[in-house]
Amino acid sequence: MSNSDDRLDPLGPNTQLVRAGYDPFDYHGFINPPKVHASTVLFPDTQTMERHGQKYTYATRGTPTTDALCNAVNELEGAAGTVLVPSGLAAVTVALLAYLSPGDHALIVDSVYGNVRQFCDTMLARFGIEIDYYNPAAGAEIEALFRPNTKLVHTEAPGSNTFEIQDIPAIAEVAHRHDAVVTMDNTWATPLYFKPLDFGVDVSIQASTKYPAGHADILMGTISANAKHWRALRQANGALGFCGTPDDAYQVLRGLRTMGIRLERHQASALAVAKWLEAREDVARVLHPALSSFPGHDIWKRDFKGAGGVFSFVLATDRKQDFAPRAERFLDALSLFGLGYSWGGFQSLALVVNLSDRRVVQPPEEGPLIRLQIGLEDVSDLIADLERGFAAAAVV
Ligand SMILES: Cc1ncc(COP(=O)(O)O)c(C=O)c1O
Repeated sequence: MSNSDDRLDPLGPNTQLVRAGYDPFDYHGFINPPKVHASTVLFPDTQTMERHGQKYTYATRGTPTTDALCNAVNELEGAAGTVLVPSGLAAVTVALLAYLSPGDHALIVDSVYGNVRQFCDTMLARFGIEIDYYNPAAGAEIEALFRPNTKLVHTEAPGSNTFEIQDIPAIAEVAHRHDAVVTMDNTWATPLYFKPLDFGVDVSIQASTKYPAGHADILMGTISANAKHWRALRQANGALGFCGTPDDAYQVLRGLRTMGIRLERHQASALAVAKWLEAREDVARVLHPALSSFPGHDIWKRDFKGAGGVFSFVLATDRKQDFAPRAERFLDALSLFGLGYSWGGFQSLALVVNLSDRRVVQPPEEGPLIRLQIGLEDVSDLIADLERGFAAAAVV
């Protein structure tokens, strides 16, 4: 279902967000979809039941509320189909389970979200699936890592915590020549700033927990596939029995309506803070793809329409033994930045990054790596807060 109007095409991204997924006149003109709480759906007679001859059959397979969100995400991603799962982590794990079997080999980017690595090294290993982690800087050179049984390449750009940008079209070209599926965690950019399926990705993954929900109060993930890979994804998710709740699906759709303007603000504030940090002597490096100093900047500029509001910086520190205490003093002096996981919500957050699980990418040597999620506060207040952190970090 789509409520796009041919006369208005092509719609701008914010217009698309306002209209996507649901036609108010499908439900008496109410501008938001109904929130359907359900397990059972009744059939009028046994024949209809036997044939599954109606749109809804059981609520794990979709309701008008979850469909409204799935349709909206399909429109934004340009996907053939989308499934909802209970978290962003589940969105990645279900995608991997959908396309991998015992004896297969998968290539996973080394800057992958840490809990995905844990899943690969434990469950996928237990199911006899071989994993290699590859350098996020690899483009077409990734071909050297392919084996006859390589069935999937997982990408995430920018990478978690270190923000490497990947050459997605080059990787997809190689993968498709080897008949491998390309999955991508695109949570940072959202389909507003990067559309994975337009760049050769087969399956696009979002932690809706972040920008789509936007208020740090919901866990959800979406997996969206192109026409070739939709059937396998739908079957795998149906077999596993994951689904989204009506309350969460409703809230995520509600969040999507304002995601464009929130992202503009996250983007502008994060860039302002990143530039301010880059000019400081006590900052060794800022890891933000939209800065021209960042190694992956050219690819970001080529492929992305914008930037998310999360990035990292290296707090310049001479001696390795001072890394942890200096980072601790910095973080404990902050009062507007909360210490907490996740991102995409209204409040700014900070944490020290642990890169000890990386196999290929080496942690920075110039000091501890601090990740900032820039929220919707005023930049001047955030900078004043960071000043307090730097002052505390400087105390010996
Ligand atoms: C890039 C990325 N993908 C996936 C996730 C997982 O999302 P969730 O917290 O909804 O499991 C995170 C969480 O921080 C993330 O940063």
